[in-house]
Amino acid sequence: MGRFFIYRNNFEIISFCCILVLMNHEEIRKKFIEFFKKNGHESVPSSSLLPDDPSVLLTTAGMQQFKKYFTGELDPMQDFKSKNTVSIQKCFRTSDIDEVGDERHLTFFEMLGNFSFGGYWKEEAIKYAYEFIAKEMGLEIDYVTVFDPEKVSAGDWRRGVPYDEESYKIWQKYVPKEKIRREGADNFWGPTGNEGPCGPTTEIYVDGIEIWNVVFNQFYRDKENKLTDLKIRGIDTGMGLERLAMVSQKKKNVFETDLFESIVRELPEEMEFKTKLIFTDHARSSAFLISDGIRPSNKDAGYVLRRLLRRVITYNYIWLRSHPESKFSFRTLIDEVVSQYGYIYQNLNREIIAGVCEEEYVKFNRTIEKGLKELDVLMEVDAKKAFDLYQSFGLPYEVVKELAGSRASILNRDDFDKKFVKHQEISKAGAEKKFGGHGLLLDTGELKAKDEVELKKVTRLHTATHLLQAALRKVLGSEVSQKGSDVTAERTRFDFAFGRKLTPEEIKKVEELVNGAVEADLPMQFKEMSKVEAEKTGALYFFREKYPERVKVYFAGKSLEDAFSKEFCGGPHVTHTGEVGKFKIAKEEAVGAGARRIRGVVEN
Ligand code: SER
Repeated sequence: MGRFFIYRNNFEIISFCCILVLMNHEEIRKKFIEFFKKNGHESVPSSSLLPDDPSVLLTTAGMQQFKKYFTGELDPMQDFKSKNTVSIQKCFRTSDIDEVGDERHLTFFEMLGNFSFGGYWKEEAIKYAYEFIAKEMGLEIDYVTVFDPEKVSAGDWRRGVPYDEESYKIWQKYVPKEKIRREGADNFWGPTGNEGPCGPTTEIYVDGIEIWNVVFNQFYRDKENKLTDLKIRGIDTGMGLERLAMVSQKKKNVFETDLFESIVRELPEEMEFKTKLIFTDHARSSAFLISDGIRPSNKDAGYVLRRLLRRVITYNYIWLRSHPESKFSFRTLIDEVVSQYGYIYQNLNREIIAGVCEEEYVKFNRTIEKGLKELDVLMEVDAKKAFDLYQSFGLPYEVVKELAGSRASILNRDDFDKKFVKHQEISKAGAEKKFGGHGLLLDTGELKAKDEVELKKVTRLHTATHLLQAALRKVLGSEVSQKGSDVTAERTRFDFAFGRKLTPEEIKKVEELVNGAVEADLPMQFKEMSKVEAEKTGALYFFREKYPERVKVYFAGKSLEDAFSKEFCGGPHVTHTGEVGKFKIAKEEAVGAGARRIRGVVEN
């Protein structure tokens, strides 16, 4: 407690001296909330990092807690007595985990935001944003951007959204025309998760960085990328507090701002800069995740926390190995985070946070050693081996590169990243949509489609392939296992291990089973889980493929337990098996010894 008060007093003295020149984060927070309160907004506290919304893992934006006011499911007048709100929201972005260390990326950050649910629209939103940045903060705007579908790549669903001429015109009242740029997909936001409110944006740049994203929520996007007009149009804005502090305090990076200074100070001076950034970022994010009730695990948000902690533990391990006399401990960083933020977020509890970190440390310490041992016996470490070590033991690239020394001379970040990207392409939506290049809209290796029409057909045939494999096993036994699969808009071609030709009765039975599942219109869903857990569910997987530690199990049925079919898969699939349509086996033949090939089609 003593330390907390001493720290706060010092801080206030420092900040008092600096107010005249620079604005500290407390000032910025106050200014933001006051400005919007003065303009008719109700101030709402941050919600938890663990959202009350199954479509997203963690809270990534201020709008998360307001999603239902945008869709009209909840009434802002009833809950806030106003159609407009303002907040400072705790956010976490998993996509940035691997980027941390490059000065610009943070996993945890706070987002300043003003919102309107059917209240004001573009005219006021742009005026507020301009006034706050230029007048309240005294910052000079480099340029602003508005949405233009012409700048969106061909095939992208956002190409159908109209050009935002209205924003272009409004901005001319505040900045010269040359400062208004037209941009593509970056100027369209949302939805979070796979469906929800979304719309074009206008973004404000100061000192070369984007600091404010103003979203005009006017559409609802469903799972099929179909846009419908929202009944209530809304405003959703987001500005990272850390970035705003950086430009207003004239710092080179966010880590030099008063939000980080005291945490960075706890790190050994001679530690590499990049390592310092990782420790600092991860100390903040772990502290906040743990305080919002998340615990390390192999699932969902718990898995995110585990990755952060394991990265920190590895760096800690390495640091202490080369600096055995060092007194550095991650605990001091956690203490500093709590001192810095404890008065704003009262649920930050240093004992609980430290306890969780310690427990993970004890668990992971064993694996690090195993991973390092594995690394020790390798004569040469290339990208593939480094990636295997990353997958199996969680050893980050940097750690492998550093520890393997000359044995890793051929290892470089680019090759490793390529493996990473390739692996993400296979595992992730498995169905990442690709544009340009070979001109295919979808190409996962297994599934290929050149446009939206083909994509729909391929998706139906892909689900049919899962039903087919399940039906084959029910009729022919578990000897049946996938040897290959290739799906185009015309047909699915499925190869499987089986010793003889199928009888006409068997073929008929398989078709009947598949069509029975189609008629039952079973929900086609997926659950993401660790590979080990996924194997335990009895889900089928393709032996030739190397799966990541986290996989998706797609299943047809109400629950995973009594599903008609379950398989490791990246998608995409229909949402209900009824969409597949009537299935027919067009051909059955031998393909090599002990293997059969089925061509299946679905009716148009
Ligand atoms: N939702 C938008 C964002 O996260 C604006 O708040 O950038």
